[in-house]
Parts: sequence; C-alpha cells; structure tokens
Amino acid sequence: LTEISRVRNIDLIQLGKFNIVPWYFSPYPESLTHQDLVYICEFCLGYYAGSEQFLSHRNKCTLRHPPGNEIYRDGEISFFEIDGRRQLTYCRNLCLLAKLFLDHKTVYYDVDPFLFYCMTQNDEYGCHLVGYFSKEKESAEGYNVACILTLPQYQRKGYGKLLIAFSYELSRREQKLGSPEKPLSDLGLLSYRAYWQETIAGLLINGHVGASVEDLAHAAAMTPTDVVNTLQHLNMLRAVKTGHVIVLTKAVREQYEKQKEVERVKGKRAIDPTKLQWKPPT
Ligand code: COA
Ligand code: NA
Repeated sequence: LTEISRVRNIDLIQLGKFNIVPWYFSPYPESLTHQDLVYICEFCLGYYAGSEQFLSHRNKCTLRHPPGNEIYRDGEISFFEIDGRRQLTYCRNLCLLAKLFLDHKTVYYDVDPFLFYCMTQNDEYGCHLVGYFSKEKESAEGYNVACILTLPQYQRKGYGKLLIAFSYELSRREQKLGSPEKPLSDLGLLSYRAYWQETIAGLLINGHVGASVEDLAHAAAMTPTDVVNTLQHLNMLRAVKTGHVIVLTKAVREQYEKQKEVERVKGKRAIDPTKLQWKPPT
C-alpha cells in the first residue's frame, strides 16, 4: 500500500494561466485523484475537482497576493513572509502543491513551526507565485531553508538563485551562518552548488583577495563547511606546510566572468539588500 501511495496520483493541474504536469505523489484528497484536471486557485492555492466549483470559488476569492507581509519589492518581484501558525490553510495548500514537485517527504499538516517566504512576479492583476522556501522558526541545526521550489513553468530562469540569495540575506540580517536542510534533491544540489561557486568566486575576485575560509563564510552568511566543500569542489584549496591556502584559479575566474556576461545579456536579476524591509522575528 505504501508503494502504491507513492505513485503520482494527479495527472494535470491548472494554476493561473498554466497547465502543469505533476512530477510526484502529493496527498491531496482522494476525490481529486480521479479527475483529468485539478484546478488550483493561483492566489489562495485552494483545490477544486471541477470547473464549476472552481469558477464559483474564483468569483468569491478576493486574494491577489500571498496572505502575509510583503517584505521585499524590486520592480515586479516581491517576497511575502507567511507564518505557518497564522495562515494554516494557505501554508498547507502550499505544501500540497510543492509536494507535486518534491520527491522526498515534506510537511503537510504541521506547518506551525515554519515561516514561508513566497516570491511573486507582479502585474496589474496580482502577485503571481513563482516559488518559495520554508524555514523553521527555530532550527537546532542552523538550517536557513527547509524546502525550496521554483514552480516548473518558471524553472531555469534564475529564480532559484534569487530564492537562495534571499535565504542568505535573511541569515545575514540575523547575523547567522546558514545552510539548507539535508538531504538536497539533485536539482537542489545543482542549484546550491551554482550559487555557492558564484558567490565565493565573486567575493575572491571583488575585493576579498587573501580572505580566509572564516572571512568568506561571514561575508556570504554561509557555514564554513559549505565554503570548504565549495573550495574543494573547485580545486581551490591547496595544502601548504602551515595548513591550507585558497588559490583563485584561472578556470574559476574565467567561469565567473563568463557567467556574469551571460547574466548581463539575459538581464538576470539579483537580490538588492537595500530593498529588504525586515527584522528577524523575535
Ligand atoms: N539541470 C542542470 N543544472 C541546473 C538545473 C537543471 N535542471 N536546474 C538548475 N541548475 C543549476 C544551473 O547551474 C543553474 O544555472 P544556469 O541556468 O545559469 O545554468 C542554477 O542551478 C540555478 O538555476 P535557477 O534557474 O536559478 O534555478 P530554478 O529556478 O530552476 O530552481 C530549484 C532550482 C532546485 C528550486 C528547482 O529545480 C526546483 O524547484 N526543483 C524541484 C524541487 C526541488 O528539488 N527542490 C530542492 C529540494 S532540496
Ligand atoms: Na526533491
């Protein structure tokens, strides 16, 4: 029975103007799993089996953005902070939706201990969900991200990097060194590696010449372990008699410059810390 319940149970969802094929099982009510198409309200994330039910909901639903505080806005991109305790239904709906694209187990009902950071792309109609990450209010392990997702229709456009950068900006404000919860999915690991590499190369190239692992960790709000692993992965940590030195290789510098050029051409965004209106929750 447990094997069966892990099989993908929903064929297709409609979310705003997108139809999306789910990747994995998610514990939506069984009545939904017999439908060809499940309608999800793009603003409250409520789910509906039929078009009539859905249209009747849309006529009543007044939400035009995630139900929390807007703590960041830069052009058409916003972040909203949502407390799992205060917005139980929304956060459960968000977890159900996210599970469609996450292979490993995640929270569905016990959302109280988490804050949810939803990133939206805004137009005259409303703030459309692009992705989110969740974060434990108190993480004994010092994790700054629990789950992270870019909705499939927005993937591979640099939004995952924005979500990750934002999570580290929050850690910086908290004066903490953060790391994502393990294990990471394959896509999660690829995205974090890309972010870590670019961040560390950027620091070494732009003014942190001669920085130590500790310097880099503090400048990036990353754990020293993640800094060391990244340096090792890039073959930038060399043993010397007195310990280790960080060597900025030509390959890493060239890769960094190539990446920056691509981002400039494509007009990719970055997080602007001056636009974050947020103090760590007390
Ligand atoms: N193949 C190869 N590299 C990939 C990749 C893929 N499918 N997806 C991301 N990357 C790497 C690339 O280096 C990419 O940079 P590039 O596009 O300039 O080459 C970098 O990660 C950042 O990609 P980005 O576009 O910012 O990420 P995204 O918006 O696609 O989001 C995830 C990344 C992980 C959030 C997204 O894949 C996702 O939601 N996956 C499903 C849920 C999940 O697994 N979450 C992580 C749980 S731990
Ligand atoms: Na996953």
